[in-house]
Amino acid sequence: MNKPKHIAIIMDGNGRWAQKQGLKRIKGHEAGAEVVRSITEYCAKNDEINRLTLYAFSTENWKRPRLEVEFLMKLLEKYLKKELPTYLKNGIRFEAIGDIRAFSSNLQKTILHVEEATKKGDALVQSLALNYGSHNEIVRAFNKLKTKENITEEMLYNALDCKEDVDILIRTGGDKRLSNFLLWQAAYAELFFLNTLWPDFSAKELEKIIHKFKKIERRFGGLK
Ligand code: FPP
Repeated sequence: MNKPKHIAIIMDGNGRWAQKQGLKRIKGHEAGAEVVRSITEYCAKNDEINRLTLYAFSTENWKRPRLEVEFLMKLLEKYLKKELPTYLKNGIRFEAIGDIRAFSSNLQKTILHVEEATKKGDALVQSLALNYGSHNEIVRAFNKLKTKENITEEMLYNALDCKEDVDILIRTGGDKRLSNFLLWQAAYAELFFLNTLWPDFSAKELEKIIHKFKKIERRFGGLK
């Protein structure tokens, strides 16, 4: 049976969730952060899941209104500081993927501090994609290689921020696209597109997806 070792999620629908209830979009992001916590804890307790990669801020999200971007930055910093004890208690290693050099120096320091403090966690890697876009990741990987040799798939993979194939890729919020997320790593991922808005997503819904995933016949381009 398939093991859901690496789960990746495009957490879409926060703004619509808030607007549906007459709230400001930022309230949807706050509610979304609570779901990040509960899904992370669920994954840490599930022995089959090693890595959870969450798309928290894309290289394209800078195009949003300045106040929303600022709110997301503050929410992220607050979340990381508040979650540190939970990470440590549950054996969660936090890591950021993406080009965090674009963030304020305080936020960068918090990210590096939480990465360092949790580096011994062995129950789960919670990887937050921050100022992340696959195109940007692949270009940075090529630039890191700086070699005249022919580049192999393995060399390129090792230079990417995320070095692990995705098993399950989920997108909430009703759209069916990958939005520049883990394009290389999701080459053989099983894709699940849900109408659920991210703040309504739950561990129960994730469990159902894992159940379906286990029954899929994955051939990776070969024959049965
Ligand atoms: C997409 O919803 C969501 C984002 C761009 C940000 C994701 C952020 C969170 C889930 C909360 C903060 C995360 C952490 C780790 C603290 P949207 O705003 O595009 O929703 P819409 O499509 O309904 O407008």
